[in-house]
Amino acid sequence: MHCLRPHTIFDLLDENEKLATIPLPGKHSLTSMLERAILTALVKLGRPETIFEFGTYIGETTTLLALNSKATVFTVDLDEITAKTPLDDFEKKNFATGRQGEKMFHGLAEAGRIKELHGDSTTMDLSRFTGQIDFILIDGGHHIDVVASDTEQAFKMLRGGKRGFIVWHDYKNPRYEITGFLDRLSRDIALYHVEETTYVFYCTVPSDLKAITTWETGGRHTT
Ligand SMILES: C[S@@+](CC[C@H](N)C(=O)[O-])C[C@H]1O[C@@H](n2cnc3c(N)ncnc32)[C@H](O)[C@@H]1O
Repeated sequence: MHCLRPHTIFDLLDENEKLATIPLPGKHSLTSMLERAILTALVKLGRPETIFEFGTYIGETTTLLALNSKATVFTVDLDEITAKTPLDDFEKKNFATGRQGEKMFHGLAEAGRIKELHGDSTTMDLSRFTGQIDFILIDGGHHIDVVASDTEQAFKMLRGGKRGFIVWHDYKNPRYEITGFLDRLSRDIALYHVEETTYVFYCTVPSDLKAITTWETGGRHTT
């Protein structure tokens, strides 16, 4: 696993790309301000036409991704009917308390570009997205079987020949087994952990991304 300081990502942006709109976190938020800034920088770097998000929840990262891109954003989340997959404690509490009513993006102009999908990502047919997606955020179910399935789907969805990203949340979160999963994956492909966040990303890195040189020399390798 390569480790990067957060500024390494911000430094890849042009000065005008550093102007961003970032929703401020609240009581029920699951990402820090720094994580929001990193996600914003990555989506600006990718300039995606299509985004796929595993895990909508209250729609905060969905909103952030739509606000900082021109992409069509697909976002999938469980509903009570489709929630048959192994649920972690967070999910059980969510369903017990009946969360997930209004999404942050409802009512915004960007809502027209956001397509909500309802179902279990491990069982729904996602074949129409094969080779169609430029930027993927994996932050759905945290059970390791779900993360593994979403990761497999993400690599199928990723469009070739374009700067593409897959981003995982919750690396180093002690409540989940995601850290070991991503460390094992990083033995086969280059993965980058952004320090002080729980984000790890993979980039398709075509030849136009000169910055990879900076990442490789500036980044430390820990596993
Ligand atoms: C951590 S939250 C997403 C947080 C969101 N990305 C944010 O930071 O604003 C995870 C969401 O994934 C959903 N989820 C869990 N397992 C899922 C599955 N198998 N398929 C689809 N969604 C799932 C949960 O219901 C929950 O709303």
